Order: sequence, then C-alpha cells, then structure tokens
Amino acid sequence: MSLIPVGIIGTGKYVPERVLTNQDLEQMVDTNDEWIVTRTGIRERRLAAAEQASSDLAYEASLEALSNAGIRAEELDLIIVATITPDMAFPSTACILQEKLGAKKAAAFDLSAACSGFIYGLANASNFIATGTYKYALVVGAECLSKITDYTDRNTCVLFGDGAGAVVLGAVPEGRGFRSFELGADGSGGELLKVEGGGSRCPASPESLESKRHFIYMAGSEVFKFAVRIMGSAAEEALRKAGIDKAEIDLLVPHQANIRIIQSALQKLHLSEDKAMINLDKYGNVSAASIPLALAEAVESGRVKEGDKLLLVGFGGGLTWGAAALVW
Ligand code: ACO
Repeated sequence: MSLIPVGIIGTGKYVPERVLTNQDLEQMVDTNDEWIVTRTGIRERRLAAAEQASSDLAYEASLEALSNAGIRAEELDLIIVATITPDMAFPSTACILQEKLGAKKAAAFDLSAACSGFIYGLANASNFIATGTYKYALVVGAECLSKITDYTDRNTCVLFGDGAGAVVLGAVPEGRGFRSFELGADGSGGELLKVEGGGSRCPASPESLESKRHFIYMAGSEVFKFAVRIMGSAAEEALRKAGIDKAEIDLLVPHQANIRIIQSALQKLHLSEDKAMINLDKYGNVSAASIPLALAEAVESGRVKEGDKLLLVGFGGGLTWGAAALVW
C-alpha cells in the first residue's frame, strides 16, 4: 500500500493572560531571579484563571490552527489532546473540545505521555492520514500545570506554566511532511516524575491532600540527566530514519524544560543556538503544550519557510521521549 504524505497544514496557540514573573515567585518561596534564569532560562510563565481548564486553552489554540489551515471544525476526522492536566478524569478533554468546536464527525481521545505527548499524538494522527483512513486530524497539547503545582515548593514551582498549542494535519505534496518518528519509553524511571494522587492507586482522600500527592513530584537532577542523554539520542535516531543530516536542519523545536537541556541537545547536534526555537523564557515548561506552542510561534514569526527541514524533540514523565523529522 502506498502511503499518503502527511504534514502540518495549520498551527495555533493560546496562552492565558496572567503573567507570573520570577520577581513574583521571589515573594512566594525562597528563590531569586538570578538562580531561576541561570539554572533554567525561565523569566516568566502564564497562569490560567481559576475558571479556565485545559479544554478552554485547547479551544482557543484549535480555532487558530483551523483558521490557518483553512478548514472548518466539521471537516475534522480525528482530535487528539495530549495532556497531563485533563479537565477531569473522564470524559476526555478531547471529547469536551470536540463539542466546543462542533467537530461532529471527529473521533476524539486524550493521550497521556507527559511532555512527549504532542509528538506521540503527531505519530498517531499521521498514521491515520497516511493510510487514507482519515483526511484531517487536529493534534493539541494543552496544559494547566499551575493547577497541579505546589507553590510552596521552590524545586518545582519556578518551572511550570499554562498554555496550549495545536496543529491540523492533512495530506501534503510529495517530498514534504513527516519523514520519521522516534518514540520511546522507560517505565523504570516512572517514580522520578509523577502526580500520585487522584488515580486508582491513591484516590483523593484527606490524607492524599495532606501529603500533597495531587501536586507534581519531580526528582529534578535525575530527570535532568535523563533529558540531556535522551534529547540528543532521540533527535539523532529520528534524523537517521529520515535520511537527513544534522547539518541540514533549519530549525530545532525542542521541549522547553530548561535552557541548559536545550543547549546540550544543540551541542550534540552541532547546531548553533539560532537554529533552535526557544520561548521558555516567556512560558516556562508547559509539558505537552511546549512543542506546539514553540512551533506555532516559529511559524507566526516567519521563521519557518516552505521546504525547511524541522526537527521536533521532547522528553517527559513516564519516562517517555519522542522526536519527529519533517519537511515544511
Ligand atoms: N531557587 C533557589 N534555589 C533552588 C531552587 C529555586 N527555585 N530550586 C532548587 N534550588 C536549590 C536546591 O535546593 C539545591 O540546594 P542544595 O544544594 O542546598 O540542596 C540547589 O538549588 C541545586 O539544586 P539542583 O537540583 O542540583 O539544581 P539543578 O541545577 O539540577 O537545577 C532543575 C534544578 C532546574 C530542576 C533541573 O534539575 C532541571 O531542570 N531538571 C529537569 C526538569 C525537567 O526537565 N522536567 C521535565 C519534565 S516535566 C513533565 O514531564 C511534566
């Protein structure tokens, strides 16, 4: 069976209005702007309003992606929302989004792969289109990490923010679109990065609240070491599968967790910093939303031209990782 070339035909993004700066955090925990900037590269992040949930952020980003793709919500065949902060346990955020958009014929499901979720979502959706099963798919990364962040824990609260990025996938001309995906997981590292509370192992209870198990727990330096190792190797593997040389990359769109992790990936790929889309200074780590948010801003600012070779790469809880090579 010959496969249909699949690419991104529209991008969109949304971030909430409220800004939380490093100076604001100085008033909340024992930290300072200098530590946060030198150790992470983050200067500020966005926070959702009390009444905003991930589907609300996803909705705004999706409207922009649909408009940029020039298709109507009714034409969508599939919606995948990658998130670790769904509106609720069920129904899925993707179903809530389907209803908001009026995407009546679209199948819809959430995907849980933490910060790698968007790349996992792209790989899933592109297969449906490549085989001719579906024509158009919407893949969204949407997070309200502020709702699962402990703002008394300086180890985590300086890192995370809220936002959403969305893309529409469809058929593209021969020679363009996705060239490869590299996905992976290592469940043995699951304990390093987690939210324990609220699942079937540790249902919500007065004790689970008291012991703060509904917040993100992260063994920062262990995750850091994993990230530095895996960003480079996942990127190299995706390029190898795609038959693209490192030197040919026009733009790297990495997961926006820490500037030092991005710099180490650039080093491994022998790329200069101007070859990477970096916006973590404005938004912090937005988990599954980081890569589509960065991609949407790169497109919006004219950094991506037809024929450019792009490499998307991320890692996250699970542990998981994912990379995608594509020709724009
Ligand atoms: N302000 C001031 N000091 C701090 C802060 C803070 N906000 N946070 C930690 N410190 C202190 C620590 O307490 C420690 O002090 P000690 O030596 O007295 O114990 C010191 O700074 C150094 O701590 P380290 O953890 O060694 O600092 P490191 O350089 O590793 O940076 C960081 C910490 C930024 C968390 C880094 O480890 C990191 O980025 N890890 C990866 C995180 C990540 O990428 N997560 C992605 C996945 S997220 C997801 O999937 C949802």
